[in-house]
Amino acid sequence: MKLVFASHNLHKIEEIKPELSEKIELVSLQKLGYSKEIPENSDTLEGNALEKAKYIYNLYKLNTIADDTGLEVEALDDAPGVYSARYAGNQKDSLANILKLLNELKGVQNRKARFRTVIALIINDKISVFEGIVNGIIINQQRGQSGFGYDPIFQPEGFSKTFAEMSLEEKNLTSHRARAIRKLTEYLNNIPE
Ligand code: IMP
Repeated sequence: MKLVFASHNLHKIEEIKPELSEKIELVSLQKLGYSKEIPENSDTLEGNALEKAKYIYNLYKLNTIADDTGLEVEALDDAPGVYSARYAGNQKDSLANILKLLNELKGVQNRKARFRTVIALIINDKISVFEGIVNGIIINQQRGQSGFGYDPIFQPEGFSKTFAEMSLEEKNLTSHRARAIRKLTEYLNNIPE
């Protein structure tokens, strides 16, 4: 089954691919020739994932998934959350976002945080939503070179490495996105042919 992934983030497409069964052929927006921004105006992860999936589904009439992820920091009332990408401004600069977050947490004892991914799926007009969460802490200094976004300062529960110190395979064992994808895959695998 062809499934459009309504995202321009090629890094994410690479993360998702190994988690999907062979039955699913992931189609990129690039392949469809869509290069504009996808509208994303909600103040919740669920709202954004649905808005993106509906937009691309209506445009191409192809089964579509869209995801939205946020880093929710307990001591900051779950900020940056849905605004994670633009936390330090519209330029969506990962380093600036990290430095802003470390600054906000200066002297703060409670370092608990979680990544939360919501995936919206639309197949033949039917909408389903899947969620994946990974709990962890925000460390004081960046460690590691892999991954993207807040990976160098996020250490998942039960590990002494940050996501940026893990290989993609290791990150995929615990990551929020992989957890949401596994729920999605289970659902897709159980759809009668
Ligand atoms: P998106 O909705 O997946 O584009 O995620 C929004 C923002 O959350 C990204 O721009 C990153 O700053 C952050 N983010 C999402 N997933 C991850 C991840 O796996 N590691 C680190 N940061 C992430």
